Amino acid sequence: MGRATYNPIGTTALVTGASSGLGIGYAHQLAERGADLVLVARRQDRLEGLAVELAEKYGTESTVIPMDLARADAASVLVADLHDRGVTVGTLVNSAGFGTYGNFVDLDPAREMEEVDVNVRTLTALTQALLPDLLKTALENPHSAALVNLASLAAFQPVPHMAVYGASKAYVLSFTEALWYETRRAGLKVTAVCPGSVRTEFRRVAQNEEAAYGGYMEVDDVMKATFAALDRASVPPHVVPGAQNTVYARLTTLAPRRVVLATIGRHSIPGRTN
Ligand SMILES: NC(=O)c1ccc[n+]([C@@H]2O[C@H](COP(=O)([O-])OP(=O)(O)OC[C@H]3O[C@@H](n4cnc5c(N)ncnc54)[C@H](OP(=O)(O)O)[C@@H]3O)[C@@H](O)[C@H]2O)c1
Repeated sequence: MGRATYNPIGTTALVTGASSGLGIGYAHQLAERGADLVLVARRQDRLEGLAVELAEKYGTESTVIPMDLARADAASVLVADLHDRGVTVGTLVNSAGFGTYGNFVDLDPAREMEEVDVNVRTLTALTQALLPDLLKTALENPHSAALVNLASLAAFQPVPHMAVYGASKAYVLSFTEALWYETRRAGLKVTAVCPGSVRTEFRRVAQNEEAAYGGYMEVDDVMKATFAALDRASVPPHVVPGAQNTVYARLTTLAPRRVVLATIGRHSIPGRTN
């Protein structure tokens, strides 16, 4: 496979979920590769701290936009703000997202809808609103533009006790791969990243700290897998970091659904400690 190093130097990359975990990892990698940053999440203090760190370490110019991405109008407000600031986005990383854990019938309905709003609704709206910018950047400067959507290993099968989360990530995987095809001749690098358990705040937010299926990866491992994929001439439609997880993703799509459901269901019983 040929290489065509992803080089966003001189462009602007927008990272959602930049206040924690993988979002911080992406912000560092993109800054190191010479992109200016737009940092989006709710916790403004963390975004501002990161902006200072990126400026000191890489000389990056960051724009901090604190925003609740569960708002119905989040994408349009964000894009209007970017327009007012005269910012053209060349790379979009949709990392904001969260999971909820438990039997669906017992979970807070408002929180479940928030999960759909952040993981699916706003990701879709933001991608559609910024895609023309990404394509324009790719056209002007080949290998400088990318769309990276955070799906999950949970995208490859239903996830009992994380039903909405699994479904939301299946959506992200399907949606992103379809866009990969639609834009494949435009020079835009599109991929869905599908990590297993990564050591971030994710499990604390999901109130499910005991279960890390297959053990934890580090943020750095996910960064290496993502940027190795982006550096390829033909970017894969999805990336599964880690050999063991790659095998798991394959097997789970081949195994009978009842077997998959029983296996995952047994391992994710609320209250069980692995
Ligand atoms: N960690 C894992 O095991 C794992 C595995 C597979 C996939 N993923 C996916 O990777 C992505 C990043 O997760 P992570 O592991 O980095 O988790 P994390 O450390 O909990 O970070 C989640 C980020 O999403 C932001 N966010 C959540 N709700 C938001 C809202 N309503 N409005 C704006 N921002 C919001 C958070 O920012 P604020 O709280 O400041 O708003 C935070 O920056 C997610 O899409 C997740 O589903 C994670």
